[in-house]
Amino acid sequence: MSELSGTSTGSFGGRSPTSHERMSGQPWDASYRDGPAPWDIGGPQPAVVRVAQAGGFTGTVLDAGCGSGENALFIAALGVDVVGVDVAATALALGREKAAERGLGVEFVEGDAFDLGRLGRRFDTVLDCGLFHSCDQDERPRYVASLASVTAPGASLYVLCFSDDGTELGPHPVSRDKVEAAFAPATGWAIADIGRDRIHTTFQENGVAAWLVTILRVGG
Ligand SMILES: C[S@@+](CC[C@H](N)C(=O)[O-])C[C@H]1O[C@@H](n2cnc3c(N)ncnc32)[C@H](O)[C@@H]1O
Repeated sequence: MSELSGTSTGSFGGRSPTSHERMSGQPWDASYRDGPAPWDIGGPQPAVVRVAQAGGFTGTVLDAGCGSGENALFIAALGVDVVGVDVAATALALGREKAAERGLGVEFVEGDAFDLGRLGRRFDTVLDCGLFHSCDQDERPRYVASLASVTAPGASLYVLCFSDDGTELGPHPVSRDKVEAAFAPATGWAIADIGRDRIHTTFQENGVAAWLVTILRVGG
């Protein structure tokens, strides 16, 4: 029997299971309970390192769906204020442990990225490494609006997501058209760049096909 059987919202801190959780039959948290999740490579994603080297992370940074925090911790080590938000309590506990070990001050917060307004915070830069591609077509507009609710015009958003264009595809490959539709002008976001990239995993040496999308908050 799946961990979701017979639950409505009780095991999810008042939120509904995401489409990914309904599909997999497990809460996201389960991915972190028995050793590293496949995406948990023990360091930042190379694409995130390149964004940092280009000076992309400024002001207060939100890492939406931060997992066990390797990207957030890497950004914090550059002297940037970072808040990591995730629904997986086990991942957040791992992140807090690593932050303590490394002497870094990342704030790890349990929260729903589809309802970020509840944080009552504003961010200058947002990183999404691996969350957007797990959203189905009903969740995408809600998530994009949620990101808008915690940013003001001038903010930047970096999305690293599985792509359907390239070799070795991830489990939820997203087309360029779907990325463009999700951040259409009416959403208050404008895509500045979509580049081919890779998401590295614990079991694929060269990673899988990804988009690195640079998006600007323009209004609305
Ligand atoms: C593929 S993992 C990537 C984790 C991390 N960004 C990394 O690169 O290691 C996706 C993460 O998004 C989180 N997540 C999924 N849906 C979420 C939601 N609605 N709100 C907050 N976090 C969510 C999951 O718990 C998981 O940690």
